[in-house]
Amino acid sequence: MCGIVGYVGHKSVMDILLDGLEQLEYRGYDSSGVAVMCEDEIKVYKAVGKLNNLREELQKHRGEFEKATMGIGHIRWATHGAPTVLNAHPHTCTCGNLVIVHNGIIENYKELREALSKEGCIFRSQTDTEVVAHLVAKKYAQTKDLAAAVREAAKEIEGAYALCVMHNDCKQTLVITKRNAPLLVGIGENEFFAASDVPAIIKHTKKAVYLSDNQIAVLTPEKMVLTDANGQEIKPKIEVLPWEPVALSKMGYKHYMLKEIHEQPDVIRNILVGKLHAPDEDIILNEVKLTKEHLKNLNRIQIIACGTSLHAAMIGKYVIESYCGIAVDVEASSEYIYRRNVTDEHTLVIGVSQSGETADTLTAIKQAKAKGSHILIITNRPDSAMAREADSLVPVNAGIEVSVAATKSYTAQLMAFYLLALYMAEIKASASKEELANLKTELMLLPQKIEQILANTDSIQKCARIYSSTKDFIFVARGINYPTALEGALKLKEISYINATGYPAGELKHGPIAMLDETMPVLSILMKGIVYEKLLSNSEEAKARNARMIALTNSKDAKLDDLFENIIRVPDVDELFSPLVAIVPLQLLAYYIAEFLGKDVDQPRNLAKSVTVE
Ligand code: M6R
Repeated sequence: MCGIVGYVGHKSVMDILLDGLEQLEYRGYDSSGVAVMCEDEIKVYKAVGKLNNLREELQKHRGEFEKATMGIGHIRWATHGAPTVLNAHPHTCTCGNLVIVHNGIIENYKELREALSKEGCIFRSQTDTEVVAHLVAKKYAQTKDLAAAVREAAKEIEGAYALCVMHNDCKQTLVITKRNAPLLVGIGENEFFAASDVPAIIKHTKKAVYLSDNQIAVLTPEKMVLTDANGQEIKPKIEVLPWEPVALSKMGYKHYMLKEIHEQPDVIRNILVGKLHAPDEDIILNEVKLTKEHLKNLNRIQIIACGTSLHAAMIGKYVIESYCGIAVDVEASSEYIYRRNVTDEHTLVIGVSQSGETADTLTAIKQAKAKGSHILIITNRPDSAMAREADSLVPVNAGIEVSVAATKSYTAQLMAFYLLALYMAEIKASASKEELANLKTELMLLPQKIEQILANTDSIQKCARIYSSTKDFIFVARGINYPTALEGALKLKEISYINATGYPAGELKHGPIAMLDETMPVLSILMKGIVYEKLLSNSEEAKARNARMIALTNSKDAKLDDLFENIIRVPDVDELFSPLVAIVPLQLLAYYIAEFLGKDVDQPRNLAKSVTVE
């Protein structure tokens, strides 16, 4: 979490920093700050809260930095110390000559802080980051070389970091480095940009270098010098970023979340391009390197993910087990990494992540890789750290997702699982050609079905109005839509702060039913298929306890009108693909409720889009 940005060149730096930070707001937004090289010295400006507060603070100092052409900026998601001005980055050394911004966590900061305090360093914040400012300053005093100082300090730091460093002695030099946190350099004409992520620089350049762990880049307006941990110079690998700045616009929608929900039909079409041409043709997944031999030797599959990606993984399990006959376990990455899990070369490990950066999932993937498992990554960011660890890749092509609440990336992840399962079923011949062709035909019809839902949202908006004042909300489903209930609840709680929970409906009577009364909305995800009648009975049981019943259904069954107070209808669909159709009204329900309550939809409190700390 946290976003960092840096610039050295010939343009006015402040606008570049502020614009870059705005594009990185999805990484955290509880405070922000910038440091710029003014004529005689570095000046630091900080503010608590959203970036606008920093903009207002800067208005008071306009004259001071107008000519500055080098600086660093930071947007924070607090880990160590509350969101206050003192804890906001940039942090300085005791004399103020050196400033840094940092993304990540310094694990041995307590020991370092104690030692540096004894040596006379004066600490002003509660952050882990400040130790780095003091440590690099100490090394600089010894070496008088900023890159060497950073290199020496890095040897004593444990943890994850992306760092940008400036010093009053080096009027046109930025030094940057990273370990287990993303950092890239954008290359312009006599100018360089540094950033945690592409959106911060894409307006300025498409040429970039992704730093590898422990590399140090020294940036001046004329050149970049890249070295490894031993100070050996390395030739930078310049990549062309496959991004368009237009992707970052709301395109007339009030919020990114609403825009991203509406993009879902096209997201499905995009992911099918080049992978599925016709129902009677094989699925093509060019970057999946699993051979027939490989699949034959697989004992099982483990899927690891967090949050919304975990819910996609749960549906992935259902689909793969149904069509490929391989046992699948799904686990939250944060649990996977702290136990002795049985993973070996006969296990396919699938990591699912929108950002490809989530620290827990990245760690889990690295652990599994070390044990010899084939690593397959499903991600929206083929340029991410996770993708770089992959043996096989399924890029989901959802385009940049700005809203913190994941919507279109979830749909794309589900599509990736459908394609992967059908692809493996083809290789293993674990399903008949006819069955697979029927499924592919259905898959290709999904965009129109979702368009139908998006074109008629009256019943969803009505529900949002009725239930926006509720304190609690229960979602129930069975079978393949149980994860849909979890995802519907997650969407609602993260943007409206309503206490929402998803249950497998059969579990209600084992405890949760005690909570039901006339104030409790219960939304049943009643999609036609093998568990339809069972779920109907569970809904009857909830109704008998006076719960306020809502159905989300593709059934025209007349008895639903008696059982449910509100009904949200969706187009008919094969049960296997019903999670794709069912999730869209739930995303919209969460959106309309949050909007109705006046919440900050795209940037909900306490959250960040990329969770790069464990
Ligand atoms: O980038 P990832 O998919 O790895 O992120 C995982 C979760 O942090 C993410 O899905 C989170 O739960 C979202 N806020 C959900 O809307």
